[in-house]
Amino acid sequence: MAKARTVYVCQQCGNESAKWFGKCPGCGEWHTAVEQIIDKSKDTKIGDKSTAKGSKPVELKKIKTKKTSRISTKIDELNKSLGGGLVPGQVILIAGEPGIGKSTLLTQVADSLASKKKSFLYVSGEESVNQVKLRAERLDLDSAGIHLLNETNIDSILHSAQGLVGEGLSAMVIDSIQTMYTDDLSGMPGSVGQVRESAYRIVRFAKRNQIPVFVVGHVTKGGSVAGPAVLIHIVDTVLWFEGDKTLPVRLLRAVKNRFGPTDEVGIFSMGSSGLDSVSNPEKLFMSQEQDDAPGRTLASVMQGSRPMLIEIQSLTVPTKMAYPKRIAQGIDSKRFELVLAILTKHAQIPLSDYDCYLNIAGGITLKNDPSADLAIALSVASSFFNKPLPAKSVAVGEVGLLGDVRKVVNHDKRVQEAKRLGYKNVISVNKYPDINKAISRLIKKK
Ligand code: TYD
Ligand code: MG
Repeated sequence: MAKARTVYVCQQCGNESAKWFGKCPGCGEWHTAVEQIIDKSKDTKIGDKSTAKGSKPVELKKIKTKKTSRISTKIDELNKSLGGGLVPGQVILIAGEPGIGKSTLLTQVADSLASKKKSFLYVSGEESVNQVKLRAERLDLDSAGIHLLNETNIDSILHSAQGLVGEGLSAMVIDSIQTMYTDDLSGMPGSVGQVRESAYRIVRFAKRNQIPVFVVGHVTKGGSVAGPAVLIHIVDTVLWFEGDKTLPVRLLRAVKNRFGPTDEVGIFSMGSSGLDSVSNPEKLFMSQEQDDAPGRTLASVMQGSRPMLIEIQSLTVPTKMAYPKRIAQGIDSKRFELVLAILTKHAQIPLSDYDCYLNIAGGITLKNDPSADLAIALSVASSFFNKPLPAKSVAVGEVGLLGDVRKVVNHDKRVQEAKRLGYKNVISVNKYPDINKAISRLIKKK
């Protein structure tokens, strides 16, 4: 009866193959094929009547919009990252390095959503129920209504979860997707085929029962989610959990969200009893007030929809190498090299004889954000000339290849935030149209 069978499918041409590795009979390329389940019983021809059921096109005009009801997680910063709360049936991937606090956050979510009447299922494929219990004790949780399951077989997990749906299951956690497997595939847990198939089954369960599911995903050394990139396409929302593990600050960044804005950021602080929401992060990313230190500048950057002041520190020292060192922490090193090249050419600073170091204080990372360019350039120049910037100043602006300072998006919002925190001296394109003028007037003249 069962016509489902497992085959290996070439990732390039989709041709079936007998082996997982070898020359593909379809495209002739050497490949690593991925295990996939083919169900011949469901094969249909184009235009087949049986597939036409329930798939009539609807006129756009006739569709009545429903307001999506949101379920609050009662964790302010998580609600913010989610765009207001959970949506029934939403599948959320929480990705991050090991030890960053994914399990901690989700245990706290479990506590918020569970109650005597509403159950919450926490499936741990990595830790025993005792370990999860120890964490819950450390977090001082009430834990009524939280059900634990130490299992890695996805079919068995979804069967148990289905049993809890009738008892008012509010949400579920799968920690982590890399440990899950199904017997229908022969690959190891964590293999591309297993991760993809498990994720598909979780999504089907979530949508059918309208239960939100959090899925934990590990991140590889290269900074992508371990497993197939397709995982990101399968889920509704991807939240990236990041931060410097040696510091308490953690950022939860929405990189994909079918139900809300992307780039929204939740800010947490990891303490001895779990993660706390940080609603006023103004001075979180600044070291002690040392306004007069050469090499230090402040930038006003956007984290999602909110502006935030961050501190940039630079150090330039004469090099002893044929190739001077360029080391940047918190920004893309190519962007740093670009700013150094602009300074060499347009401000005539001989940086090719200097090793240059840059650090963004507080462990924050600026991704593709050119709004800190001006602050970076001024910080390097300030270190080079060993003269601090004027007190209480914040730089806002991008620096172009021609040495021109440019306005950035949300300029006014960033300036307002700086002024609100008492930084009256805003360095921007309004007063300094090019980087050379800014350096001559703000640093060299002092
Ligand atoms: P964990 O949530 O296990 O990380 P992940 O699931 O992402 O691998 O968090 C592990 C770290 O968090 C660990 O170093 C201990 C620390 N921690 C705290 O600082 N405070 C706490 O209350 C808890 C539960 C963990
Ligand atoms: Mg964990």
